[in-house]
Amino acid sequence: MSASREHFSSKIGFILAAAGSAVGIGNLVGFPVAATKNGGGAFLLIYAFFVAFICLPVMLAEMGLGRRAQHSPYKAYSELGQGLKRWRLAGLFATITPFMIAVFYMVITVWIFGYLVQSLLGNLDALASEGFFGNFVNDYDFIWYLVGVTIIINFILGGGVRKGIERASKILMPTLFLMLILLVIFVLTLDNAWAGVQFYLVPDFSQINGSVINGALAQAFFSLSLGMGILITYGSYFRRSDDIVTSGKLVAITDTAVAFIAGLMTLPAIFAIYPDTNPDSLSDSSVSMIFSFFPNIFLALSESVGYFAASVAATIFFLLAFVAAITSLVSIIEVPTSSLMEKRNISRKKALLAMGIAITVLTLIAATSFGLVPWFTAFTSYAGADKSVFDVIYDVFYDTILPLNGLLICLFVRFRWKRSQLTAELSEGNQAYATSWLEKYVSFAIGTFIPLILAVVFINTVLTKFFAISII
Ligand code: PFF
Repeated sequence: MSASREHFSSKIGFILAAAGSAVGIGNLVGFPVAATKNGGGAFLLIYAFFVAFICLPVMLAEMGLGRRAQHSPYKAYSELGQGLKRWRLAGLFATITPFMIAVFYMVITVWIFGYLVQSLLGNLDALASEGFFGNFVNDYDFIWYLVGVTIIINFILGGGVRKGIERASKILMPTLFLMLILLVIFVLTLDNAWAGVQFYLVPDFSQINGSVINGALAQAFFSLSLGMGILITYGSYFRRSDDIVTSGKLVAITDTAVAFIAGLMTLPAIFAIYPDTNPDSLSDSSVSMIFSFFPNIFLALSESVGYFAASVAATIFFLLAFVAAITSLVSIIEVPTSSLMEKRNISRKKALLAMGIAITVLTLIAATSFGLVPWFTAFTSYAGADKSVFDVIYDVFYDTILPLNGLLICLFVRFRWKRSQLTAELSEGNQAYATSWLEKYVSFAIGTFIPLILAVVFINTVLTKFFAISII
């Protein structure tokens, strides 16, 4: 099977595909708002520190494991883990997690697609009207948008690694950068925009506490698409001569740069329209920011630039968010798809069909858990609150299992695969790596304090989320 494995055609192909995965909804709204609420420049510094010193080593380990094994996560862990049960379990987690996160991300992407279509049709005023979002998520019309998103994703993934993922990334990622820059320029020319830039960038170290630090790490981890099996899978599409180390660094830099630049769009837009905004009052939830807050901002903008220009800006914003979400979804659905192709020895078409059906059914369940189907809405309860199916998927897979998967890859490198093997793998395609400072750092950190930190984050999340006890 590995002889016929597809590979990315070039380094830039991989970088754009991996950046497509990394740049997502979290970059556009989640990151800027978290930074503004939690100490501005101080948060940015902590975030950048985590990207460089915690996330990059994990990222290199995932990519190295993938390329070494030339398999998707499950088989990669079982082969290099010599079939031991505990490593097969790690592979299973790295296969199920992306599947479930795909479901939760799919729901949000379907809504974004709906908002994109509505703003394109000139219905910005309706999108901004009171209660629109609540009605929108409680209307079965979302199924049409789900069909649309499914067709687009299958179209891209159906083409395979080079003609699908790589080609789509080469078109979509530059388009995304262009739209982002256009919006930043537009927003920065509005009155009061600079107040937002100030809130975003001026450091306030007094805001930093344990939970802010934990939040910054979780955001960085998620933003780089770690713990989702994506980089193991994409690593397996690398050729032996490709330079994993430089590619990994470039992906981390691109993702962080996009998150940073997005802050120059998101915050100034908020402050231009509502100059008296108290950053603490901004919602922590990207969902409520995107679907409730932003349409209002765009509509309010029409007073100064006119309804047409405001609608164009809103359309570009939703298109930007949609492109960011689609390229992330493509990467995450590729993980279980390629696992299925490998495990059952079936064609890409058949695997995509099976995946498409399974994800659609689960998406329907998650998307109807906002009130349409009462049983899915009040699905269970823990830590003193009722939880819907969507909440459970979010809490279990996004919040809890991601750091666990990060921990497992560190333990795998430390105790099974061995750090010298990781170094040998990363040195192929980058000979200077073996004697570099980065190698010394990665080898040390991945076997010592990175797993320790991830273990603390994991335990803290379990206690907070499910038992309402916080140790950080
Ligand atoms: N890096 C992505 C983001 O910031 O939104 C994380 C991600 C989420 C990737 C969901 C893929 C995905 F399906």
